[in-house]
Amino acid sequence: MQTILILNGPNLNLLGRREPEIYGHETLADVEARCRAVCPAGVSIDLRQSNHEGVLIDWIHEARESATAIVINPGAFTHTSIAILDALNAFEGPVIEVHVSNVHRREAFRHHSYVSGRADGVIAGFGIEGYEAATRRICTLIGAGH
Ligand code: DQA
Repeated sequence: MQTILILNGPNLNLLGRREPEIYGHETLADVEARCRAVCPAGVSIDLRQSNHEGVLIDWIHEARESATAIVINPGAFTHTSIAILDALNAFEGPVIEVHVSNVHRREAFRHHSYVSGRADGVIAGFGIEGYEAATRRICTLIGAGH
């Protein structure tokens, strides 16, 4: 069994209820269901969310042993966290960065991502469909299914 860790940063526990005009009405539970639905046999999804940078970093370290690939929406830590970048640099599998909104159409401070320099792919502005697309891409990269 190969595992894809889908990590979500701060405030994404409120997905579906927080600023729905920007982030839509679907929740992280919907994200999980959609990603599971596109996974071929032999691939499992482990979706987690934390509001705490250190917890996200600990989970990325854990993934070195327990996950084949990471899909990450670091939330606002995207734009601030060298520590999350360093943790991802210590992970050897594929990494895809996802943003629900199109960060490039928003405030200038959202235009820079520390994580993009490590990511194998970046998806922004596809709503929660971005997580599905990222999961499919990861499955291609790890040679699973299809
Ligand atoms: C986000 C974009 C970030 O700028 C923001 O801080 C978030 C969510 C997105 O999914 O569009 O919390 O990562």
